[in-house]
Amino acid sequence: MSKRVGIFVSGGGSNMRALVSDMVGDHPARAAVVVSNNENAGGIAWAREQGIATEVIDHRPFDEDRARFEDTITAALVPYDLDIICLAGFMRVLTAGFVAPWQGRMLNIHPSLLPKYKGLNTHARALAAGDSEHGCTVHLVTPALDDGPILGQARIPVNPGDIAETLAARVLVQEHRLYPAVLRRFASGETAPLTL
Ligand code: GRF
Repeated sequence: MSKRVGIFVSGGGSNMRALVSDMVGDHPARAAVVVSNNENAGGIAWAREQGIATEVIDHRPFDEDRARFEDTITAALVPYDLDIICLAGFMRVLTAGFVAPWQGRMLNIHPSLLPKYKGLNTHARALAAGDSEHGCTVHLVTPALDDGPILGQARIPVNPGDIAETLAARVLVQEHRLYPAVLRRFASGETAPLTL
């Protein structure tokens, strides 16, 4: 039976689209729901067009009460009976209370070669450090931010004249290759790191 995947997005959702588009044919998983904290996330409209269920839970009414925000997400997920969660540009930090029950079943994509550059502004930080290569990482989510066992990485060279935006654009192309490839393997039980 296909694994049921929930994909969490906050923005354009290009990684979510890459994942959904790959989950066809003999793929061992299917997208069951797309979840967002932002009704205006581009990814939500696209998912609805595809006929995929969506759940929007705005974090703002919860103020800083992350536990209550997360409990609301947890309750909304129950009917979907998910096997795997893929964070794909979900811009809310999830606390241990949410992460712990999903540990080993929740993936994230991060635009750096972890363990380098956890957090934000990864492209500018790679440039500032004078790195000759950069890339992206898919990892299992643990309560620590952008931590957890690495499931795959894709590398690109940093070119002379690169600025954060050019680097981000080239890394994003790799994200769209890496995340579907890792999810496909993960859903069939393969966790050895993939290098692209
Ligand atoms: C990606 O760069 C992802 O690595 C980061 O946020 C961005 C999301 O882009 N976590 P998109 O919404 O998938 O287009």
